[in-house]
Formats: sequence, C-alpha cells, structure tokens
Amino acid sequence: MSEKWKVLVTEKVGEAGLDIFRAAQDVELEVALELTEEELIEKLAGVDAILTRSGTTMDAAKIEAGKKLKVIGRAGVGVDNIDLPVASRRGIIVINAPSGNTLAATELTMANMLAVVRKVPQACTSLHEGKWDRGKFTGRQLSGKTLLVIGLGRIGGEVAKRARAFGMEVIAYDPYIPQKRADSLNVELMSDLEGAVSLADMVTIHTPLTEETKNMIDAAMLRAFKHGAYLVNCARGGIVDEAAVAEAVREERLYGFATDVFSEEPLSADHPFLAEDIADRIVITPHIGANTIEAQSEVARIAAWNMLMVLRGEPYNHAVNLPFMEQSLNGDQRMYLNLARKLGLLAARLAQVRGSAAHKCHVTLRGALFDDEEKCVANKLRPYTIAVLKGMLEVSIGTSVTYMIAPLLAKDRHISIDESYGEPRTYKNTIEVELETAKGPVSLLATITEEGRQRIVRVNDYWVDFVPGGKLLIFQNHDRPGVIGKIGSILGAAKVNIASFALGRKDGSGLALGALEIDGDIDDNLNQELVKNGDMLWVATVDFTKAG
Ligand code: NAD
Ligand code: MLT
Repeated sequence: MSEKWKVLVTEKVGEAGLDIFRAAQDVELEVALELTEEELIEKLAGVDAILTRSGTTMDAAKIEAGKKLKVIGRAGVGVDNIDLPVASRRGIIVINAPSGNTLAATELTMANMLAVVRKVPQACTSLHEGKWDRGKFTGRQLSGKTLLVIGLGRIGGEVAKRARAFGMEVIAYDPYIPQKRADSLNVELMSDLEGAVSLADMVTIHTPLTEETKNMIDAAMLRAFKHGAYLVNCARGGIVDEAAVAEAVREERLYGFATDVFSEEPLSADHPFLAEDIADRIVITPHIGANTIEAQSEVARIAAWNMLMVLRGEPYNHAVNLPFMEQSLNGDQRMYLNLARKLGLLAARLAQVRGSAAHKCHVTLRGALFDDEEKCVANKLRPYTIAVLKGMLEVSIGTSVTYMIAPLLAKDRHISIDESYGEPRTYKNTIEVELETAKGPVSLLATITEEGRQRIVRVNDYWVDFVPGGKLLIFQNHDRPGVIGKIGSILGAAKVNIASFALGRKDGSGLALGALEIDGDIDDNLNQELVKNGDMLWVATVDFTKAG
C-alpha cells in the first residue's frame, strides 16, 4: 500500500469516530489533545486531515500551515471556529456533522428553559448550603406562555415541537425558511425580529453565528423585549451582547437568562454573567449542549466517515464549503448545470468582445426543475448560478476554477451576483444570464429540449437556435446577401470545416447574428480577415469542448 493518510484528532471525540479511522488500513491516526498553538501548527504541516470540536480554532495561519491538508472535520454543527474562505481557496473540504447532536442540544435547551423559570440550579445550591428555603424558589410555568424561536432549523424545530407539548404557543423568526416549514411545525412565522421579541414571554436562540447574527440581541433589541421575559441561548456566544444582557437581568427587564455558550470560552473570572448580584436569575453551563453519549458518538461517526470518503476520493456528505454536491443532483439537473457553465463561458467571451469585463451577473431560473432546490448555505446561491460564475471565470483564469472558489473569485473581482426565479414562458425550463459591463449588457437564454439537447435560443436581442458544443464561432454581421458565402469561402480557404450554422435577425436593424460550430481553430489573422472581408462587426470563438 502507498503512504497512509495522516489524520490528527485534537479534541475528545466519540470512540465511534476514532474506531472508523483505526479500522481504516489507509489511515495513520494521531490523537493529540491539549496541544499548544505552536505544537498544533507544527503538527499540521504533516497531516492530511484534522478532526476537531469547537475548542480548536482553525484560523488562516493554521490552515496555511497545513500544507498537505485536504479535509477539516468538525464533530458538531457550528463551523465558526474554521476560516471557511481560506479553506475554500486552498481547496480544503470542511465537513461537519449537522444532525448528530440536534436532539442533545434540543434537550439541553428545554432543560435550561425549565431551569431558568424554576431556578433549579439556585435551589440545588441552596440545599447544598444546608438551607431549606422553599419560598425563595417560586418560579413560573411554561404552559400558556408564548415562546419565540429565533432560527427555526433543526434544533429550533425540535424545540418548537417540545414547547408545544408543554402547552406553549410558539412563534418563530427565521427569514431563510419557507412558510411551509413553519406551517408544518404549527408555528407562526414572524417577519420582523423587534416585533417578535415584544410578544414573547420566552425567547430561545438557534441560529449560527454569522456577520448578520453577531450581536443580534444587543441593548437596543433588548429594549424591545416584553418586560419580564426570559432569554435562552444554546446556540453560539456572540449572538447576544453579554454586557447588555447582564444589565437587562440586573434591571429586571429580563427575569432570567440561561446560556450554554459564551463569546469567549472558557469565560474569564470577571465575566458579566458571573456577577454575584444577578446569580439568582442566571443559569450558565459550560457549552455542554452536545455532550451526551449518543450525540458524541454520532457526530464523531458522521464526521470521521465523511472525512475518510474525502481522503479516498469517494462520495461524501456534509461538506459545508462546497456550494452543492454534484452527486446529489439528478440527470436533468446535471445537464442544466453543464448548460449554465457554458452560458458563463459564452457570456464572458461576449463581454470580452465588447472590451469590458462584467461587474454584475444576474441569473434567472424559470421552470419546475428549479423549484425544489436548496440554496447553497454558504453563499445562498443555487448550483446553476455558481456554474455560470465558474464558466465566466474560466475565460480569464482557466479550468482550475472550482465550484467551491467561483463565488469567492467573483467577489474578489467585485462582480455582484443575483438570482431570481420565474414562471416558465415558451420553454419548460430556462436559464437566462444577463451581464452588465461598462460597455453595455450581454444576455443569453438557453434551454434543454425534451430529447435532452442543450440549446441557446437567444443572444442579446437575437433569437437564434444553436447547440453549445464543440468549437463555436459567433459573430455579428451586416445582414446583406452573400455574407454567408463569403464567410464559408474564408473558412474553407483556411481549411476550417463548418459543422452547423445558425443565423438570427433583428427586424429593422440591418444586422444579424451568426453562430457556427466549426472543426478547427481560428487564429488572429483569420479572425481579422473574417471581420474585414466577411462584413462582420465583431467575431468571437468559444471552445465548449473543455466544458464537457
Ligand atoms: P440549522 O442550520 O439547522 O438551523 C439554523 C437556522 O438559523 C436556519 O433555519 C437558518 O435559516 C436560521 N438563521 C440563519 N440566520 C438567521 C438570522 N439572521 N435570523 C434568524 N434565523 C437565522 O442549525 P442547528 O443544527 O439547528 O444549530 C443551531 C445552532 O446551535 C448553531 O449555531 C449550532 O452551532 C448550535 N449548536 C450548539 C450546541 C451546543 O453545544 N450548545 C450544539 C449543537 C448546535
Ligand atoms: C456544535 O456546534 O455542534 C456544538 O457547539 C457542539 C460542540 O461544539 O461540540
């Protein structure tokens, strides 16, 4: 056997995950807990894969130190401890284990909700101190109260179900889920957060930590809360402004706060949540939401198995920085993905001919094929839009542009991207690409026929019909008799064979657009001759052979 994959595990993870690596003949496993930053950087230089929990920060410096690194595994959900853009640029796959600890975190949330309204930890401590103080521990019931779930994903959804069983009315705020998810959970979806917090007796947070959710519950938002509400955070530190929350508890605007997570972990001795004067209304746990035997076993198993598949080049799941899993698309979707990439190639070539690069790309998807698809979580784009970007960037960068880095490269080049959906028109499903350049727009419309043939049916204002395959010569010419003959002669003299020919005219313009599939190459001289003697305004070639 050739050299083994070196896998480093830096935190205590479930044995089920370690067993997967131990059993793999092609893996050399090293478990090294409590490494210093320097030791970790040194070790990273020699490993192909690293498996972590939230205690290991994989920042840019560490990822760069991992010269051979191919995969970073996270035995858990949150990947806010991993610099995803840096990993993506390096082509490193980041794997997480999203479903493995959902129920563990859900149950801790329910435990913390009950603990904070009934002051369970404080009552327990009081008894340990030898006191019997029943009167001090009068709490409130969950039943009959309104719960606001912020983030109605896996954990938020499970919390909502359990809260309803406790007799709570549940409302939710999550701008990224479809109405039908809220309906299926019997939850009212609220459209603005301030309005939602003003209605809730209990608020529980279940979002990831992102630029948008950072400090989402700040001093101003806390002022919108119902007086005497409770707040629970079992998601991520940093989503709440900790000093502002401590102050709201102190002023009894919040009757209680329970949290499992902190903006810095472990928390410092002078942390606002450790203040003596509010200790009777604060419940804190040391990030134990996922700490059940069942969850730890499951997240380690899921992460380790998929990491192994990445290393072996076999199909894997849960890659958070891959915009989509090509293997999970069906045959029709893959054909449209390929068509989208070709549209990107052609659109970027047409922009080049205009003499200006695109600064905006708008993709419109029409038809049932695009209805039920998930957007890429990382950048909220559908696979087809990412494929358009890949094709566009390949024109200037080459085929090294992967789906993973295409959106990042587009951002580097200040290309703004948006996507929309619409009802189908003449064709069952279509992809439309519109580029804005400093010298005017470029637009393309394409479909796939019932027989499974890709067709480009509109180029700018010209209705045409050609297959984006092989090598394409595309041009705009004066719509005069004899032009096609002239082009045929010029190409014939250069021994370039024409495989197919499509022409589109625009009423009243005196101009036409031609698209020819050719066998052979067009060099600069031939290009110039075509423009000069073929009565053309411009001509461009596009090689679709590399796009499959
Ligand atoms: P999920 O991806 O299934 O759900 C997250 C939800 O948040 C999604 O529905 C998303 O649309 C929503 N969301 C994103 N941005 C939002 C915004 N600005 N406003 C409102 N909603 C927004 O994730 P999950 O598995 O349910 O995990 C939720 C959180 O819990 C994550 O932060 C995860 O890291 C954390 N977590 C903590 C523990 C723990 O040990 N305490 C354990 C597991 C998970
Ligand atoms: C997660 O995001 O999965 C949790 O915070 C649990 C963990 O870090 O282990």
